[in-house]
Amino acid sequence: MTLIPLSWSRVLSPLLQPLRWLAARRWLRESEVDAVLAWLQPAWRLNRVFARVEGREWVAEDMLALRLRCNANARGWRAGQHVQLYLALDGLRHSRSYSLTRVGAAGGIELAIRRQPGGRLSNRLLDHLAVGGVLELGQAQGELHWPQDSAGVALLAAGSGITPLLGLLREALAKGFAAPVSLLHYVREQGQRPFVEELQQLMTRHPNLSVRWALTGQPAADEPLRGRFTGEHLQGLAPHHVLACGPAGFVATVAEHWHGPLQVEAFTAPERPVEPGATVRLGFVRTRRQVTGDSARSLLEQAEAAGLRPAHGCRQGICASCTCTLLGGAVRDLRNGALFAEPGQPIRLCISAPAGDVDIDL
Ligand code: FES
Repeated sequence: MTLIPLSWSRVLSPLLQPLRWLAARRWLRESEVDAVLAWLQPAWRLNRVFARVEGREWVAEDMLALRLRCNANARGWRAGQHVQLYLALDGLRHSRSYSLTRVGAAGGIELAIRRQPGGRLSNRLLDHLAVGGVLELGQAQGELHWPQDSAGVALLAAGSGITPLLGLLREALAKGFAAPVSLLHYVREQGQRPFVEELQQLMTRHPNLSVRWALTGQPAADEPLRGRFTGEHLQGLAPHHVLACGPAGFVATVAEHWHGPLQVEAFTAPERPVEPGATVRLGFVRTRRQVTGDSARSLLEQAEAAGLRPAHGCRQGICASCTCTLLGGAVRDLRNGALFAEPGQPIRLCISAPAGDVDIDL
């Protein structure tokens, strides 16, 4: 039910300042105020950021651009930053970080979401989240920024690393940045190139922009750039400033070959799953323990063998009392072999085995 429009709640939000003051001193419960605000407008809260889905658009075979309108608690956000997105699935709270590809007026933002193998959250967002739905977001973070005074900029992106760079590029061109800009985007296949039409239109409108794609899976014979990034790909660009975003290995290679001004943002790509029985590293982050384990036995069994005492009940994946957060790496569901590799994803230790090195919040 929506009693007032989101735009009204944004205008009225400053009037809630006395309630924020009282909630900060625990003289009233924020959750109770939030319940009333959410009854009036589903995306209204005292301090938390909620947003309404205003549009969905497939921008590549495996990537969806989601247009959202945030409540007034999203303040000072910039394109190129990233936000945590939260969604309750099957009674559990899932979260994942996405880059802001656009930050507009009146709380309007755009995120681009790529399908992840076994990713419950991304697949739910891609396949089931409808226009009009409401989501919770964290506050935006991230230091990437456009080098406004640079005499030339090269943007190097691998996979979904394009998303923060596209946000910065759109904004810089809209503000009249006139020095040469080169964008190189590395994707596995032709159909995984997002925002192609828009980038081509930008090239037509802004002669200082050149965009090229490198296919790392099956490079076409006539592709000028082939395979993964090498130092040779920088030749002829003569950039004065490089921004690189992609998996950690990609940005490390860029840093190896470019010794001028550089900004990088790396994300951990899902590891290739190891065979059952292989040796893996288990990181128990909260207790600051690192042990050697294997990819055959459950994480519950291996945590206990390492001297930890995780909460548990049924040991069969039913009661959920052993649920923990996956912070990095991938796990395999021992019941059906399904892989899960989304950081922030809740996993049940008793039915999950590592599918490579993993870090869990235990
Ligand atoms: S112990 Fe019950 S679900 Fe893991």
